[in-house]
Amino acid sequence: PKTHHHEFIVEATPVKRLCKTHNTITVNGQFPGPTLEINNGDTLVVKVINKARYNVTIHWHGIRQMRTGWADGPEFVTQCPIRPKESYTYKFTVVGQEGTLWWHAHSSWLRATVYGALIIRPREGDSYPFPKPNRETPILLGEWWDTNPIDVMREATRTGTAPNVSDAYTINGQPGDLYKCSSKGTTIVPIDSGETNLLRVINSALNQPLFFTVANHKLTVVGADASYLKPFTTKVLMLGPGQTTDVLINGDNPPSLYYIASRAYQSAQNAAFDNTTTTAILQYKSTHHVLNNVKKPLMPLLPPYNDTNTVTAFSRSFRSSRNVEVPTEIDENLFFTVGLGLNKCPPNFRARRCQGPNGTRFTASINNVSFVLPNNISILQAHHFGIPGVFTTDFPAKPPLKFDYTGNVSRSLWQPIPGTKAYKLKFGSRVQIVLQDTSIVTSENHPIHLHGYDFYIVAEGFGNFNAKKDSSKFNLVDPPLRNTVAVPVNGWAVIRFVADNPGAWLLHCHLDVHINWGLATVLLVENGVGKFQSIEPPPKDLPLC
Ligand code: C2O
Repeated sequence: PKTHHHEFIVEATPVKRLCKTHNTITVNGQFPGPTLEINNGDTLVVKVINKARYNVTIHWHGIRQMRTGWADGPEFVTQCPIRPKESYTYKFTVVGQEGTLWWHAHSSWLRATVYGALIIRPREGDSYPFPKPNRETPILLGEWWDTNPIDVMREATRTGTAPNVSDAYTINGQPGDLYKCSSKGTTIVPIDSGETNLLRVINSALNQPLFFTVANHKLTVVGADASYLKPFTTKVLMLGPGQTTDVLINGDNPPSLYYIASRAYQSAQNAAFDNTTTTAILQYKSTHHVLNNVKKPLMPLLPPYNDTNTVTAFSRSFRSSRNVEVPTEIDENLFFTVGLGLNKCPPNFRARRCQGPNGTRFTASINNVSFVLPNNISILQAHHFGIPGVFTTDFPAKPPLKFDYTGNVSRSLWQPIPGTKAYKLKFGSRVQIVLQDTSIVTSENHPIHLHGYDFYIVAEGFGNFNAKKDSSKFNLVDPPLRNTVAVPVNGWAVIRFVADNPGAWLLHCHLDVHINWGLATVLLVENGVGKFQSIEPPPKDLPLC
């Protein structure tokens, strides 16, 4: 195994998109940021130097961080933010994960532009469980605002309303030639006749689940979230923010230009969304001869924005291809509602923060607790050093009120209560969490991400989860192993894992606006017995608040 050293300089850099230049926060002046390429078993050492005017942290999305929770990154959960002019070195080893992950800022809305791919190849001497592709191309799907995304977020927080939707989607940072002033930079993805290209597709958009497709080319899915899958073919992918999918495409079409396209999967009814389409161009290498004859690349068909049937068919095709160790017995049986809320504003509340429907403001919660980050220390530091008063451990294992979660219930049924509450898990406990969407305000497909773990998705369905009826349908044989589950709109998903990694692990919706509104909690996994079941001591340069 190797150790890779990198330096990430976070700083404002002029970036021109949609005809305008913005002072954009980037890493090493690149947008998207640098791609990290390592092998399973390698160690990464990344020194992050903050030359921007915002606090920042970097999260290594999907990396298990076994016993190295101090390197996980979410601000005020595992560390205090890296302040301007300061630095912090993240150090961790990748064990047993292979495929595509990514890294992103985990502070405010900085991840709108501070993100990049993290590619983990098999150990040296090992090979992929599929024929070696001739090429590999990371595909980072993103969202672009024609203004500073931090300001968009701050404005929404100030008013208690939903933030403005993005002005474009991007592929590897470029909107593509369907947008104004964008044809020159359009991302080109190469392929040649008879070749295979492994596309490592990452949804790094802030707030939008996305469909993805390639004109005239079948997509063979071979992995997701750095776990291998039994290969299956599909015409279209759907990725919630945070999710990755590895697909093979074959150069089996006449040499030409084909659009690669992505646009919104929008499951929330009556909610504003960016309904534009981003494109890249799949270009056969031999095409330069015929380029002059080809006017426009061939455009693929994308599903309608609300096509939940396509999403369901796609996610139900996922099957793990190796090493399935799904717990069959359960020690902790948790039921978490995930959804939005509207809070009435108290009479003395500043009116400008209550500009939601009928003088309310938007919130979100798990089991009616709207998560509030501490602001002067991280939860992991407080837990590790036994500092009281930072959080409580009374996060409810079940919702405080049972109701028809996906029915036509009143918007005022419950008002999320703000709190910094964690749920404690004993080392080694076998955990099941039912994630149940709620329809208060609106039901929606929520991409729920757990830090520090991969989990098995043993079932998903629509309506209210019914333990008696639905447990018989659990897949305990070859369920997919992921770090982010797209909980179906008006439905539920059941995940299982063994709590074998001590630390403070954020569980949250990866639609960033929902984190702002409180759709998060922390799973606090206690140390086991001895050194190898305990978190390592914190690094010396861990930022202080
Ligand atoms: Cu990819 Cu807590 O995030």
